[in-house]
Amino acid sequence: MRSIFIAMAALAASLQWSPSAALAAGSLNLICSADVVICELMKDNFEKNTGIQVNMVRLSSGETYAKIRAEARNPKTDIWWAGTGDPHLQAASEGLTQEYKSPLLDQLHDWARKQAESAGFRTVGVYAGALGWGYNTDIFAKKELKEPKCWADLLDSSYKGEIQIANPNSSGTAYTALASLVQIMGEDQAFDYLKKLNANVSQYTKSGSAPVKAAARGETAIGIVFLHDAVAQKVEGFPVQIVAPCEGTGYEIGSMSIIKGARNLENARKWYDWALSGEAQSLMREAKSFQLPSNRNATVPPEAPKFENIKLIDYDFTKYGDPTVRKQLLERWDREIGANAN
Ligand code: F6P
Repeated sequence: MRSIFIAMAALAASLQWSPSAALAAGSLNLICSADVVICELMKDNFEKNTGIQVNMVRLSSGETYAKIRAEARNPKTDIWWAGTGDPHLQAASEGLTQEYKSPLLDQLHDWARKQAESAGFRTVGVYAGALGWGYNTDIFAKKELKEPKCWADLLDSSYKGEIQIANPNSSGTAYTALASLVQIMGEDQAFDYLKKLNANVSQYTKSGSAPVKAAARGETAIGIVFLHDAVAQKVEGFPVQIVAPCEGTGYEIGSMSIIKGARNLENARKWYDWALSGEAQSLMREAKSFQLPSNRNATVPPEAPKFENIKLIDYDFTKYGDPTVRKQLLERWDREIGANAN
């Protein structure tokens, strides 16, 4: 018995952990809108470094925005890490998140700092990723399908029932796709395009990366997703080919925000500073998350899609993160696309 106690004490000392230290460090309520593997890795590393206990939930970007809005009078979340920037900007502009100027802002790329400045420092960029799709090469070979290189190609009737994309209400990825198409084609033409695409879509998923996970496993031929999520499947060894559309494409500035009324504000700031550090952002590769990190000192995974090789549009984050614009586009999507989904 005595030896078990001594072993436990030694273990606790080696982990620099003790019950009283954990109590003193307190806790943090976090919503994570990235892939669950990086969410867990970030949580574990932060807990180990600080002794702060993290209560983490993984939700898609649009779902998180809706939850934070619903809980505005009685916030249950302290910090929202990751997820596409548009709903973070919407939350900032509706006063659901609070200003914080991290001492690490100077270490960030301009695009990440600009995201913070444009929102009065109520949010900040943590990574970037471009949109496109991944397709299953085995299915393509078997069904003799031609590689879709452009958005326009996806309308071909040979892809009927072969495409998945998420629902833009829950998913930030799908909202980025909607807003990108509106910026590339104009709003009416984009909705016309989406109506035609609907004929080829078998499912609108809740989470943004689900379509390419399904494509990787042979459940669908094509998943419209962020390119880094398609890379993650390819790196896992699945037969996935990655396409950046020829007409140009939009991108996300994955973001982070502290919730207004956060009960564990000091701990939320500790997470914020740590999550902006080169050290924390270098964890992404270990979790097979291949976005571009926002800290200039972070290691960029060699597998990360190269922005210089992708035709990127000048995505208007201020406009498409504006509450009126986002709400109007989503309502129109519900009326014209969601209501007629297969
Ligand atoms: O899987 C990671 C990721 O693509 C992030 O880059 C992005 O911010 C997030 O997922 C978006 O997820 P969703 O579309 O489910 O909101």
